[in-house]
Amino acid sequence: MNTEDRTSQQQSPEDKEKQDFLRNRGVIPLHIAVIMDGNGRWAKSRGSVRIAGHKAGVDSVKDITEAAAQVGVRHLTLYAFSTENWGRPKGEVSALMKLLVQSLRSETRKLHENDIKLTSIGEIDRLPPTCRRELEEAIELTTDNKRMELCLALSYSGRWDISQAVSRISQKVKDGILCPEEINGDIIADHLSTADMPDPDLIIRTSGELRLSNFLLWQSAYSELYVTNTYWPDFRRDELYEAIESYQNRERRFGKVPSHFELEESSVAMR
Ligand code: FPP
Repeated sequence: MNTEDRTSQQQSPEDKEKQDFLRNRGVIPLHIAVIMDGNGRWAKSRGSVRIAGHKAGVDSVKDITEAAAQVGVRHLTLYAFSTENWGRPKGEVSALMKLLVQSLRSETRKLHENDIKLTSIGEIDRLPPTCRRELEEAIELTTDNKRMELCLALSYSGRWDISQAVSRISQKVKDGILCPEEINGDIIADHLSTADMPDPDLIIRTSGELRLSNFLLWQSAYSELYVTNTYWPDFRRDELYEAIESYQNRERRFGKVPSHFELEESSVAMR
């Protein structure tokens, strides 16, 4: 069975058609990163407790992971728990950790069967021991998988990431391995927790908030942003496809001019 077929058993013909349409329409972003937000408000709007929102959010995690792999995304990073989230009430933090453990236990085999490699970024040492153990086992099991990388940002913040990179670079300078003059953007990127990943092409944020909330601050320099008012537990594959379509309509210039401009300018200069 090839990797294309592995999840297609449950896939509807319409869904397959939509994915084919997107692949033919334009470039599929290599790396999508998601700020999953709005679980609490989703629960509140149903007169339920915040934890019910997080539980419902797990179903979105599963659907988006599956659809991203099927459509051809190669790296999917999910902001699952920020450094700042440690400041939430104890009960909510432990419920989130429990959900993570349960999800890892129930989903790792499926990830592995679908050739998805699990990785994580963040201060993993701060996670409770059971959580860390499950995570490390899942990472180990899936380490050689090639179809897509699913990276969980856990106890993560962009400022933490930059700080730990600066600290490791400073140590190398102190040890005489690196000269201060050699430090540039590439060296910094190589010391971030995302060193093995390309920068995100597309960052999706749910629940309508217009901010990055300390997520991938260095790596998002030229990411395209897609914000939807949908709360994370309602964010499913059809909206992922909308985000990809929106990405395909953008012109990425990376601070330069569009290529047709360059051609026009050079022909003027030649005259
Ligand atoms: C933000 O919503 C969401 C989180 C802090 C946690 C995200 C966690 C999950 C979706 C479930 C577990 C994850 C995995 C990977 C299995 P919020 O609580 O900030 O919502 P609010 O802004 O409406 O209060």
